[in-house]
Amino acid sequence: MSEHSRDYLRQFMKVFWLRPETALWRACDCMALNDVQFLSPMADVGCGDGLFSFTRAGGELDASYDMFSHVAGLDTFFDKVDIYNHFEESGIAPIVVRKPDYQFDIGVDHKEALLQKAFSLGLYKKVAQADANKSLPLEDNTYRTIFSNILYWLDDFPVTLTEMRRALTDDGKIILHVPNNTLRDYSFYQRLHVRTGDPKWEWLHLIDRGRSDNIRQCLSYEEWSEIFKKAGLRIVHHRNYLSKLLLEAWDIGLRPISPFLIEMANEMAAERRKDIKLRWIEELLPLIRPFCTLQSPDDAAHPPGFHLFVLEKAP
Ligand SMILES: C[S@@+](CC[C@H](N)C(=O)[O-])C[C@H]1O[C@@H](n2cnc3c(N)ncnc32)[C@H](O)[C@@H]1O
Repeated sequence: MSEHSRDYLRQFMKVFWLRPETALWRACDCMALNDVQFLSPMADVGCGDGLFSFTRAGGELDASYDMFSHVAGLDTFFDKVDIYNHFEESGIAPIVVRKPDYQFDIGVDHKEALLQKAFSLGLYKKVAQADANKSLPLEDNTYRTIFSNILYWLDDFPVTLTEMRRALTDDGKIILHVPNNTLRDYSFYQRLHVRTGDPKWEWLHLIDRGRSDNIRQCLSYEEWSEIFKKAGLRIVHHRNYLSKLLLEAWDIGLRPISPFLIEMANEMAAERRKDIKLRWIEELLPLIRPFCTLQSPDDAAHPPGFHLFVLEKAP
């Protein structure tokens, strides 16, 4: 199956089922990437648990494994602890039912447990733990594709861009997903409380969970272009995506109740969990698919919240 005809939403629901809003966002990432080629050698900076890149590459897992298979401290979710940063050597292992079309030469992240999960997928030839705000563990002039969807999590992203440029071959491409300056307009917490100071919407911090602070840069096309230019990079491809409607649905999603859903799902016997999961996916798909297909990049009043940029070394 070619990446153009792949049903990414269904595939992402298989790995993110209890967080359908994540499946939606990631499926739209892949739709935006449709015309973009990944060429070896390649690096994934901020690979996390690897499930995004694995699925984008056409990989498919048996339904017994998903994003929720290795979690810990579910009761600390409301203290903003990362419940996913946990891996058990003896826990459920992923069973690959369809191999990805390509492999990454390296996956980089600063969280060790996420890297262990990523490595278990067989997508990465190796993984390396590093803080992407500093020097990247990538050889000079080596990679034809450097992919990253985490630049906006970093404090020192100009350093990271310079590092990526250093590791890129002369004909290589850097592929980035980064926020548009409209992203915060579609956050209920930002719009109704942070911008107005209205105390009656303060409770929305329970929905936001510190996310808007973690997203460091929401910038326009022109602002990003200027940053890339300073890093010695030029834009060869750009797309805006993620509609207001999708981002507002994502803003709430099942996130607030997810620790309870995960706990209940993980208490179930394996076969029962798998059976409910597969039925859940089929019933939810018609409910969420329109958010993905009804993207409205022409809605001038509400420009999309994200950018996809493909960059190369400026001459
Ligand atoms: C939203 S997740 C994306 C993960 C993966 N690329 C995906 O699409 O699922 C952000 C990732 O960035 C990583 N990250 C955040 N700050 C980082 C840093 N300073 N250095 C390296 N990785 C970082 C986190 O550990 C996390 O895995």
